[in-house]
Amino acid sequence: MTLDASPAWQALQVHCDAGLGTMSMSQLFKNDSNRTDKFSHEFDDLYVDYSKNRITEETMSLLFELADQQDLSGWIYKLLSGEKVNDTEDRPALHTALRANHKGVSGLAALVQDDVDAQFDSMARIVNKVRSGHWRGFSGKAITDVVNIGVGGSDLGPLMITQSLQTIQSPVNLHFISSIDGTQTSNLLNKLKQETTLFILASKSFTTIDTLSNAETAIDWLEEAIKDKQEIYSQHFIGVSTKPDMMTEWGIPPENQLIFWDWVGGRYSLWSAIGLPIALQIGMDKFRELLEGARIMDEHFGLEPFERNLPVILGLIDIWNINFLNIQKKAILPYDARLKYLPSYLEQLVMESNGKSVNRDGKEVGYKTCPVLWGEVGPNAQHAFYQLLHQGTQKVMCDFFALKIRDDFDASSHTGRNESLKSQHELALANCFAQSRVLMLGDDAIPESLKANFDSPFKHYPGNQPSNTILMKDISPKTLGMLIALYEHKTFVEGVIWEINSFDQWGVELGKLIAKETKAALRDASLAEQFDASTRKLIEKVTS
Ligand code: F6P
Repeated sequence: MTLDASPAWQALQVHCDAGLGTMSMSQLFKNDSNRTDKFSHEFDDLYVDYSKNRITEETMSLLFELADQQDLSGWIYKLLSGEKVNDTEDRPALHTALRANHKGVSGLAALVQDDVDAQFDSMARIVNKVRSGHWRGFSGKAITDVVNIGVGGSDLGPLMITQSLQTIQSPVNLHFISSIDGTQTSNLLNKLKQETTLFILASKSFTTIDTLSNAETAIDWLEEAIKDKQEIYSQHFIGVSTKPDMMTEWGIPPENQLIFWDWVGGRYSLWSAIGLPIALQIGMDKFRELLEGARIMDEHFGLEPFERNLPVILGLIDIWNINFLNIQKKAILPYDARLKYLPSYLEQLVMESNGKSVNRDGKEVGYKTCPVLWGEVGPNAQHAFYQLLHQGTQKVMCDFFALKIRDDFDASSHTGRNESLKSQHELALANCFAQSRVLMLGDDAIPESLKANFDSPFKHYPGNQPSNTILMKDISPKTLGMLIALYEHKTFVEGVIWEINSFDQWGVELGKLIAKETKAALRDASLAEQFDASTRKLIEKVTS
């Protein structure tokens, strides 16, 4: 039986057709004064309000029945204990083992704990050497700048976390280059000095052309100042990969290599040695706090009943919105500029995991799966695409993120600057809460005294756009660890319900292959003869 013909799915469809599909949230709040208490949950550093969704207690209980029907508990157990949940690549997805710290682990997750410890010890050795100024460049000067060369999961996780934790003072400057076109690389290198720059070549597969081509450009740049090639690799390069042999062949000596394992998915790898830039910025102790935050969420995911299990609740609400209310777009809206890369990070995590249309049996699914996800720092997005959220023809679900405490200034001191920053934090919170309220209530949010000013079709707010609001205690390593693990597990929950494998990414392979033959055709036009007319013309335009 297909998922959409199954009893639990059909029960949800009947429930939706009976009225919730069209019910207004404004009405749902009027009907139930306890609504927010029922549909919010505080767990450790996070408070999650999901009451601004078109759900009732019956909706939630039908969704939990769907989760039971799909054996979500069994799948959670399989994931956390290291069974081969990534069946098309015949391996487990054991990112949780990286942060378990020997606690509550079983199966393969328990067996790999010593290997994980050994790699974190090697990572700590490198981190301490660089941060203490003992890692010297070819001229004997201490390293001042570290450049991470990686892409996708080998870039976005460290980039997002280091940006988020930028208020933690770092003894070195961190930079990231990822884009294949080389402009980012040349721009950055023009500002740096060879003698004080250290590169991290981060690639799980060690075959990604984007990363290898940027690394070759970095080598050429180092060669402009360093005559001895050996010094380039031993003093200016660290490799992080699952492929030690390939790193050695490329030139990186074993003592400069950190390894991880094929059971860590690229987009789940910031918890492994791929997190080296994070540890270089915040130190190894704080990196371990990040891991601990994620571990706390893993434990919650593994043990809490579904009714209080945040990744399960948020995943099921997405299923409700996407598959029953027909809403296939999601906006990620952080109200703190330090979280500016959270949308890009979640774009990869969610869309590379669940952007699939074939189920685990290789059959085409007959229902919608992953939504289109995009986002921006909320206050900036208000001046860009919120017009569409409020008055466009698209239904969009929004995830808002706000901070209880802003920890980048001293709120207890009443100097002019502190007072202005406190007021700016209030402004951010006020805007965040106002936007989710207007998106939910639409015209009903307009105060009675102002109604006359809004008496025009152009000033009509339909409302009823669902949203979740996630209040974070602060932006600390621990809170971020919890938040990211929450989204990882929520993504897995959705994959389980949709019966898809969230851990492969075959959809990105063909483009890479075709790019290789296209690159050859850019040098030799005869190779483009079999291409389509549009591509041939484009090649002709750029080569003539
Ligand atoms: O092309 C997609 C992808 O394979 C991602 O899944 C991965 O995070 C990224 O490329 C980088 O891969 P690697 O770390 O192997 O260079």
